[in-house]
Amino acid sequence: MKIGIIGAGNIGGNLTRRFAAVGHDVHVANSRGPQTLTALAEETGATPATIEDAVRDAQVVVVTIPLKAVPNLPKGLVDSAAADVAVIDTGNYYPQQRDGKIAAIEEGLTESRWTEQQIGHPVVKAFNGTYAQDILDKPRPAGDPARVSLPISGDDTAAKAVVTALLDEIGFDAVDNGGQDDSWRQQPGTPVYGLASDATAVRKALQAASPERTAEWRA
Ligand SMILES: NC(=O)c1ccc[n+]([C@@H]2O[C@H](COP(=O)([O-])OP(=O)(O)OC[C@H]3O[C@@H](n4cnc5c(N)ncnc54)[C@H](OP(=O)(O)O)[C@@H]3O)[C@@H](O)[C@H]2O)c1
Repeated sequence: MKIGIIGAGNIGGNLTRRFAAVGHDVHVANSRGPQTLTALAEETGATPATIEDAVRDAQVVVVTIPLKAVPNLPKGLVDSAAADVAVIDTGNYYPQQRDGKIAAIEEGLTESRWTEQQIGHPVVKAFNGTYAQDILDKPRPAGDPARVSLPISGDDTAAKAVVTALLDEIGFDAVDNGGQDDSWRQQPGTPVYGLASDATAVRKALQAASPERTAEWRA
């Protein structure tokens, strides 16, 4: 399957490693251009690409860049992707450390709904609460009692099924956290954020979440 990864940092780099390791045709892009991605390409076998080339005909696109950079992505980002492309959003709003104030999110819009509006396409929120290193260190075979479950949210059930299968391939279970309006349950500051545990613990943490955005996560 062709997977286009937009962002080659902590998360994008490790997703490139894992998706390439299980045999996917991974094309990875950053802001500075493919010539800056030769080391990652040599290590993983992934193809360094422009954003446009990474997305073209991709069945999965991963947006994994700082939230404040999302509006800088090309307009119609996934228009050239496969018609049923599943778009994964790993993003988090870090107003104080990185992103500055995004008024719509401060007013209550979920972070991934905001990203959907920026890129003009539905997304599946996944990996946003997963430490980048855990993507390399925590994979376990299906059925292993130590297998980690990760929450996913989104309105497109077919795309969520694609993401669930991809997670399984790279050694994780998915827990369906409902649609994008429910995705606040997995945003920064919630009990599930950063949790690396099984499905029972993930469900319990999602249920324990509060919709209130605390001061730490406000501009
Ligand atoms: N780090 C974690 O453990 C972690 C865990 C879960 C979720 N997240 C979230 O996932 C997202 C990515 O985090 P990260 O830690 O992987 O970030 P990062 O290490 O800072 O890497 C960011 C990547 O995005 C690229 N980028 C920035 N602006 C771009 C643009 N306009 N077009 C294309 N590429 C662009 C950068 O490319 P250049 O270097 O060429 O500028 C870089 O490859 C963030 O929203 C973060 O909150 C992070």
